Amino acid sequence: MNLVRLIYASTLSDDTTFDDMQNVTASARKNNKQNGITGFLTISHAYALQILEGDRGIVSSVYNKIAKDTRHRNLTLLCMTPITQRKFDRWEMEYCEINDRHSDLIFMHGSSRHFNPYNLSAENALSLLSELHDQFAPATTSPSAGTTG
Ligand SMILES: Cc1cc2nc3c(=O)[nH]c(=O)nc-3n(C[C@H](O)[C@H](O)[C@H](O)COP(=O)(O)O)c2cc1C
Repeated sequence: MNLVRLIYASTLSDDTTFDDMQNVTASARKNNKQNGITGFLTISHAYALQILEGDRGIVSSVYNKIAKDTRHRNLTLLCMTPITQRKFDRWEMEYCEINDRHSDLIFMHGSSRHFNPYNLSAENALSLLSELHDQFAPATTSPSAGTTG
């Protein structure tokens, strides 16, 4: 398997609701499990930042599908990097909302207290997501080990 990590930023469409995001997460979990993809999705007000890890060909085609989804727009690829090991291997897709409580963390991994994923370098996006992932989904409480590559 040619394992890769892909990170992108996007803007939620004005009419995208909380229920829409619940549906997104449900279909992402089902599809990603079938596709051997693991990852993490963070949302803050208007913005989304998502990481996908898995086989290069599959990650590319899932990204192309996600890019056509009208529930968000202005997708910007922050990186697609070959990796030897997954960092986000515990969840097919976990979802976390970023809010004011995370402002110190956002500041630590970016330049401002306001979450704007378009301003993040790939390195900062990865470190922010890793920390949120660890806080949100500690290894000991994980319900599934995901598929490691
Ligand atoms: C922000 C966002 C993230 C998404 N992430 C995923 C994902 O990780 N995997 C996935 O299969 N679909 C994801 N989707 C949904 C896809 O765009 C698409 O609706 C879904 O894969 C279609 O699934 P279905 O063919 O089972 O109906 C995402 C959509 C949005 C708006």
